[in-house]
Amino acid sequence: MPASFPAARYRRTRQSAAIRGLVRENTLTTDDLIWPVFVRDGEGVEEPVPSMPGVVRRSVDKIVEAAIEAHALGIPAVCLFPYTDPSLKTEDCAEAWNPDNLSNRAIRAIKAAVPDLLVMTDVALDPYNINGHDGYVVDGEIVNDETVEALVKMTMAQADAGADIIGPSDMMDGRIGAMRSALESAGHKNVMILSYAAKYASAFYGPFRDAVGASGALKGDKKTYQMDPANSDEALRLIERDLNEGADMVMVKPGMPYLDICRRAKDTFGAPTYAYQVSGEYAMIQAAAQNGWLDGEKAMLESLMCFKRAGCDGVLTYFAPAVARILNGR
Ligand code: PBG
Repeated sequence: MPASFPAARYRRTRQSAAIRGLVRENTLTTDDLIWPVFVRDGEGVEEPVPSMPGVVRRSVDKIVEAAIEAHALGIPAVCLFPYTDPSLKTEDCAEAWNPDNLSNRAIRAIKAAVPDLLVMTDVALDPYNINGHDGYVVDGEIVNDETVEALVKMTMAQADAGADIIGPSDMMDGRIGAMRSALESAGHKNVMILSYAAKYASAFYGPFRDAVGASGALKGDKKTYQMDPANSDEALRLIERDLNEGADMVMVKPGMPYLDICRRAKDTFGAPTYAYQVSGEYAMIQAAAQNGWLDGEKAMLESLMCFKRAGCDGVLTYFAPAVARILNGR
């Protein structure tokens, strides 16, 4: 039984910055950040993404500059997403495992320039698929097992290029086990897998699909492979499954509307747990800030702290460099 008033005055421990600091339960540091970045072809290019104010698509040389900056800011990892030229999108998605595709060239360039910065990748067919889906479409069905074979080839090309963390975002069944055993067989025993284990079929991915040029291509929705936002127990079964198949870390995505899932995941498994503060979450905060309806900086910091409170070990966020600058200034 907590003491009653006036023995207990909870405002006592909120009266000054010093005591608030002393009783604070969670902290946000640059160690908690993974920065998702968009790569495009060309040289010297930084092309704004209109639906994500402050976010640009960078050519490989500019990605390297960004990686150097991220490392200097203390950000431990970047996550690469390619904007693929529409002419390279095909039915068989072969560009996905081309050793010299945009993403693999960017991995090599970053690892050559900043070897200590972790490079995470995205594994899914959507940037390379003529119909915008994460898997092969056969007679209107997104087929699982054939897709997993393609994803394994994609994974191996990324690992060969020097990726540190493989990020399967496709939500096919059995992919983590297949990737793990292929990595082990090829001697990539230290390559990590951060599974998008609980990824929901969400409206909050809209701006991202603009950023990677998948919005136009996508026919239909992703509900036969991404999760129903109404489900929570299912997320735990998927996380347990992926950990058993060899995932080192797991992710919940989107982030802020799914903090309950983060907390359940952490409490149940105690595994390294991450949330993806997705493009739509970023766009909402930026749009409101641009209109003067929110204090953008405060909303950004609060949104990120909430992931820590919910049990996450870190967060993928487009705010990473902005928040790192603030954290470093303190
Ligand atoms: C695609 C992928 C998506 C995101 C990351 N990887 C979009 C989707 O599933 O349609 C979303 C990221 C974001 O919205 O910021 N496999």
